[in-house]
Amino acid sequence: MKQPFFVALDFRTAQEAQDFITQHQLEGVPVKVGMELFYREGRTMIDWLRAHGHPIFLDLKLHDIPTTVEKAMFNLADLGVDIVNVHAAGGTKMIQAAKRGLAAGAKTKIPKLIAVTVLTSMDQFTLENELYVKQPLEEAVKRLALLTKESEADGVVCSAHEVPIIKETCGEDFLTVTPGIRLLDSSKDDQQRVATPQLAKQLGADYLVIGRSITQAANPKENYQRVTEEWNNG
Ligand code: C5P
Repeated sequence: MKQPFFVALDFRTAQEAQDFITQHQLEGVPVKVGMELFYREGRTMIDWLRAHGHPIFLDLKLHDIPTTVEKAMFNLADLGVDIVNVHAAGGTKMIQAAKRGLAAGAKTKIPKLIAVTVLTSMDQFTLENELYVKQPLEEAVKRLALLTKESEADGVVCSAHEVPIIKETCGEDFLTVTPGIRLLDSSKDDQQRVATPQLAKQLGADYLVIGRSITQAANPKENYQRVTEEWNNG
């Protein structure tokens, strides 16, 4: 993959996403397609991105009963994307079902399967007071990462700050994909557990996901280059 970071194409329509890519000369860069764009544009958007050479992380965060997730993954598997994901909180049976669905539905390569541990927009207070998870957030992340590993998925989505503990628990080859990435002068927006590209690299992240620090920047191409430089010099 060209650069190990996915630009989050959080746009309302295919036209907006395509205009963004072409106006800022980001043809062929790895991209992440999430619910907002996929629910409107679906396969057509993915086909367009593939035809234009973009590696794709399809971020739909499936979380349902195992049978439903298996069948949904079967249907997603032939899109030809590189990575798909589920919520680890769905449990071992659900993660294994997702894997089965992908293997059965893939026409060529089987997409990598990763699981969201605890969303990077979540903090300790919310975890304790809304979800009644009483352990420290880091423990919850570690537990969900181990469950993902035991379910034989390829890795997790987590905050950069949790990468060292996850690598220590699940091994160096277990993938860590980290959203919540911000350049020093970018706003945190609704994210809580953020890190700069340089820090994420130093902490051992395999892939970064970067949305608004690039897509909402005054000069997206310049910020893309800053992320590249931070990563290369990190
Ligand atoms: O704009 P920003 O860089 O915060 O975008 C982060 C992207 O990563 C969003 O598309 C969001 O849905 C996604 N994401 C996340 N936290 C996760 C999993 C995915 O922020 N745990």
